[in-house]
Amino acid sequence: MEAFAHQNPHPDSAIQKQKWFSDEFLYKFKGSWIWSTYLESTKKVVENFKPLPTDVILASFPKTGTTWLKALLHSIIFRSSEENSLIFNHPHELIPSLETKLFLESNGKDPAFTDQKVRILGTHIPYQIIGDVLNSSDCKIVYVTRNPKDTLVSLWHFIQKAKKFHEDPWTLEAAVDQFCNGVLPFGPYYDHVLAYREESLKRPWKVFFVTFEELKDDGNKQVKRLAGFLGCPFEGENAEEKIEEIVKSCGFETLSNHEVNKSSETPECFPLPYNSFFRNGKVGDHENYLKPEMIHQIDAITRQKFHASGFVYGI
Ligand code: A3P
Repeated sequence: MEAFAHQNPHPDSAIQKQKWFSDEFLYKFKGSWIWSTYLESTKKVVENFKPLPTDVILASFPKTGTTWLKALLHSIIFRSSEENSLIFNHPHELIPSLETKLFLESNGKDPAFTDQKVRILGTHIPYQIIGDVLNSSDCKIVYVTRNPKDTLVSLWHFIQKAKKFHEDPWTLEAAVDQFCNGVLPFGPYYDHVLAYREESLKRPWKVFFVTFEELKDDGNKQVKRLAGFLGCPFEGENAEEKIEEIVKSCGFETLSNHEVNKSSETPECFPLPYNSFFRNGKVGDHENYLKPEMIHQIDAITRQKFHASGFVYGI
């Protein structure tokens, strides 16, 4: 695996730049930190992506449950017609992401993608950057978030899958500081979450907001809610059974055990292996890694950013 081989430092020296880990850099773009690898593709998305009114856009900060939601959305929207595809296809292959795949590969033009009636597309781009694009059509946005401490710990583990990590480790101390300062890919995390949440409060028919913890707590309820939002509710005598089946088939145990998701192969467009998207999928795992002072440091920012703005979440 040539981890992070396609780094493409931005030639414009005026642009703000910060080290992430090892020799990886982040660039400030419209107020957010974008990893050098995805800077150009992010700009291409902003300039060229034309969402269709039927599109469903899955937006998320990295490591908040994107893979899980990709599986759920695919199952809810396509139902039994493609029920086996999750067994043989990684969720990220079924549902491509704008900046990490489609626009990374394209020469800038909006890639004509799929003959499906509904296109489901992922993105980590903050609302502050992609909002106008998403508002240019009646496409729907589904946003998933996760408590900040588990998100950070998940990201830290994810990066350990990179060869570079072992040559020049990203310490947990550095990761916590960067998380708190907002200097992580697509960060600041807090701004990312709050912007999509605010839109979901203003326009609940346009933006669906759900947390990783809500999905864990009552997957059936959230799947029902999501299907209603997408305009494809479960109906008829077997409705509850169908919901139950989808929740189970997209659950961590089932999904992480498919051969395609256990694979240590690396996808064409991404530097980490397929299996890196599945670790343990638990709520509260940060307690096993973060020292009390780290928890204190993150909780202080969570109070200041989330709680002070009326979003009582994350502690
Ligand atoms: P952990 O590292 O805490 O295990 P993303 O998909 O946004 O990259 O997030 C990855 C995180 O979601 C990882 O968290 C991963 O294990 C977890 N995950 C992946 N699929 C899941 C599922 N079906 N149910 C619950 N968690 C899942």
